[in-house]
Amino acid sequence: MNLTLPPDVSLQPATLRFLNTTPKKLLIGGEWVESTRRETFATLNPATGEELAQVALAGPEDVDMAVQAARDAYEKGTWGKLSGEERGQLLWKVADLIEAHSDELAELETLDNGKPFRVARNGDVPFAVRHFRYYAGLAGKIEGATIPVSIPNQFVYTRREPMGVVGLIIPWNFPLLMCSWKLAPALACGNTTLLKPAEETPLSALRLGELIQEAGFPPGVVNILTGPGMPTGAAIVAHTGVDKVAFTGSTEVGREIMKNAALSNLKRVSLELGGKSPNVIFADADLGKAIRGANWAIFSTAGQECVAGARLFIERPIYEQVIEGLAAEAQKIRVGNGFTPKIHIGPLISEKQLQRVMGYIASGRSGGAQLVTGGERLGGELGSGYFLSPTIFAHQDDSLPIVQEEIFGPVVAATAFDDWDELVQRANDTHYGLASGIWTQDISKAHRFAHALKAGTVWINGYGYFDAAAPFGGYKQSGFGREMGKDAIELYTQVKTVWVGL
Ligand code: NAI
Ligand code: MG
Repeated sequence: MNLTLPPDVSLQPATLRFLNTTPKKLLIGGEWVESTRRETFATLNPATGEELAQVALAGPEDVDMAVQAARDAYEKGTWGKLSGEERGQLLWKVADLIEAHSDELAELETLDNGKPFRVARNGDVPFAVRHFRYYAGLAGKIEGATIPVSIPNQFVYTRREPMGVVGLIIPWNFPLLMCSWKLAPALACGNTTLLKPAEETPLSALRLGELIQEAGFPPGVVNILTGPGMPTGAAIVAHTGVDKVAFTGSTEVGREIMKNAALSNLKRVSLELGGKSPNVIFADADLGKAIRGANWAIFSTAGQECVAGARLFIERPIYEQVIEGLAAEAQKIRVGNGFTPKIHIGPLISEKQLQRVMGYIASGRSGGAQLVTGGERLGGELGSGYFLSPTIFAHQDDSLPIVQEEIFGPVVAATAFDDWDELVQRANDTHYGLASGIWTQDISKAHRFAHALKAGTVWINGYGYFDAAAPFGGYKQSGFGREMGKDAIELYTQVKTVWVGL
């Protein structure tokens, strides 16, 4: 392991110990094991390009063993005999353990993903804790209903039963948090799980696996399979012993997953996919707040967020002023190694992602959009990492790829609009429908916009808020199913109707 850190930064001894245990193993049936084929892959630090660890690459045989372990745990083990409240107690212990290891988990997140340590420590990690606590509380409160029917002497009630064995496939932008979004409700509902973190960021999921073991979950309830989409993710999706797959990632892979789920055993699927969210600033907005909000909506996490406010619509009279203000804000953003104090955003996740984003920047320029600021890979001491300056395009052509396609980088496409009908039509002119934002002091306009937008989330005078209690998910090709809140119970349970002759 090579570990170049900014001056005066040192890691927790526990983090170093964790990194030095290599290759990282798979968690199958309560044991940490090497992959059957002894294959491994490297996970890199995107701030430096250095290898952090070798990680076991799960092949189809390993997936098979994990499915068997999860099936046994589901059908035969003690897990199925636990009450919801008892499952909740285990989840609460996980929350406590994550909290107790916050610094270490945040360090792993910054090393593996690149995000600022401050953000991981004060955002991702506590939010993961909150998730486990929310679903710990909900685990004992999953209810059916009694249903009045028109047939005499029949008493009908429903039960919400677990799906069984569920596969959880996770992206790299919020590694620990996305694991929590999926694991906590899946376990609260009584399923057993196969968790596949993204190949770019497996480390915090593996550390979480150790904490889950420590919390005392029965073997096989949580299995962790590291590896890339091919073969690891695809083997989970194709497996007939898996009852449901919950996925967050690209729309392209989501489509593939839905197809392969259908072709195997019609396993249930929920998909949280890409976005190209419109963010709208009206002339009557509190402009200071709106500009700072729009800046953060696109540039936080270096734009690598499914909800990134990537299409900015500005009402014509304030267009110039907002563009200027936004450019000034963007130029103040400090990009760098996530361990450097006072850094706002880190690198992109990989050289591949950087090249992809640079490709979009080139296409924006050649397509006639005006590059207002940014657009450059950062060099010097950041040159070995995957750093890009916050980038603003101004344009008048909604058909450009930078306006239509998910870039997943720090690139915003800003444009002016003149009237309401035009705005609603253009804001909805996308295959995606994940999120949206509006800045205005006119409360009626704000609500009308919220109702007119074909998107799963609308933020009014704010952007990017999430809470374990608030449902989240997509319209259109941003996917389906709602994670978080009570709605997530629908993703991880199925309804059984029981008829009783009286
Ligand atoms: P991806 O969709 O390929 O990866 C997400 C997860 O799916 C990873 O765990 C990956 O190993 C797994 N996966 C990949 N192919 C699979 C398959 N055939 N079967 C089962 N699992 C599979 O995303 P990637 O390549 O990391 O990023 C490419 C683009 O996807 C990004 O530029 C961005 O536009 C979008 N993306 C969107 C995310 C979101 O939160 N909406 C998250 C990650 C990526
Ligand atoms: Mg990595």
